[in-house]
Amino acid sequence: MTDPTIRYAQVWEDADVLAEALDVGPGDRVLSICSAGDNALALLADDPAAVVAVDLNPAQTACLALRVAAFRSLEHGEVLELVGSRASDRRGPLYARCRPALDDHARRFWDAHVGVVAAGIGTGGTFERYFRLFRRRILPLAHPRLRVRHLLSGAPTVADRRQWYEAHWDTWRWRLLFRVATSRAVLGKARYPTAFSQVEGSAADRLLGRVREAVTATDPAQNPYLQWVLTGTHGDALPRYLRAEHFEAIRDRLDRLSWHVGPLEAVLGDAPFSQFNLSDVFEYLPPADADALFARVAEAGTPGARLAHWSVLADRRPGPPLDGRLVRLNALADRLHAVDKAPFYTAFHVHEVR
Ligand SMILES: C[S@@+](CC[C@H](N)C(=O)[O-])C[C@H]1O[C@@H](n2cnc3c(N)ncnc32)[C@H](O)[C@@H]1O
Repeated sequence: MTDPTIRYAQVWEDADVLAEALDVGPGDRVLSICSAGDNALALLADDPAAVVAVDLNPAQTACLALRVAAFRSLEHGEVLELVGSRASDRRGPLYARCRPALDDHARRFWDAHVGVVAAGIGTGGTFERYFRLFRRRILPLAHPRLRVRHLLSGAPTVADRRQWYEAHWDTWRWRLLFRVATSRAVLGKARYPTAFSQVEGSAADRLLGRVREAVTATDPAQNPYLQWVLTGTHGDALPRYLRAEHFEAIRDRLDRLSWHVGPLEAVLGDAPFSQFNLSDVFEYLPPADADALFARVAEAGTPGARLAHWSVLADRRPGPPLDGRLVRLNALADRLHAVDKAPFYTAFHVHEVR
């Protein structure tokens, strides 16, 4: 499948949770779904021997290619401007400095997307446009700006945040508007084309519960995903690959990163891998096809290899044929799911290859 539209201009999967789940270290070979490339870059901070990113959609690998060029060509603060984490009126000139470091495909792609560059490369996917619509048209009908600011400024304890959420945020109006925003018709268009093919029943109640957890279990002031959804930029909370403390390490290791356009299965042939970041690719598949893919992943993993994946709505775990070969690390996965900062995943799994 070739889909030259950027669907995800950022990765909306919590890189801190991912890093802890995979526990990458020296010598490791990591396979990662690319999306916009943020988490493939984030994992370089942990000093692996190689990170191989893959995506069916060439627009997504172009997003990673431009990030890599930006890490090579710009300074840290300038990368934040190019992404949109910081205000900027010079993204065109910043792009011009990155352009010589791009491959031909990525250069052609980004030359044709100057509007996305000018707005910040993290703004330009269908998913981010959905968030913008939500933020501008729907959110103001539920909550005034001051209340949104209050939520994002955080509170010291989980109990404080829960109490405030229940008293001020969880209104009937919020729940009603959230239901509209997460209906199949609206959310279905924003996500991956087949995102709802395996989903039964209404999404809203399950997603509402996740939002409550994501804004109360951890501090919203430290949550880059929530900050962007509600304000359109990151503020002081940056995702892992953009934090200053990782910048030099990631920049020094860019040669260990490669990316490929095509299905995950094609790259599994380049085994063995010791870690797999598989986004939520399983939830688009019927259970039998998901099991076939789990089996291929298990074959491509070294003994002790770890596999992390999420589900928004259609939970997928390896079925009985994989018993004993893929073992869920229950305590780790459940602990990390409870502190996942991305507000839309109803399940998170970490499995070990045996
Ligand atoms: C699975 S989507 C999900 C993103 C986000 N978590 C969500 O739920 O909306 C992330 C990326 O995976 C890519 N993708 C999906 N299935 C794939 C496959 N079998 N092989 C390679 N890439 C795949 C998509 O093109 C997309 O860029």
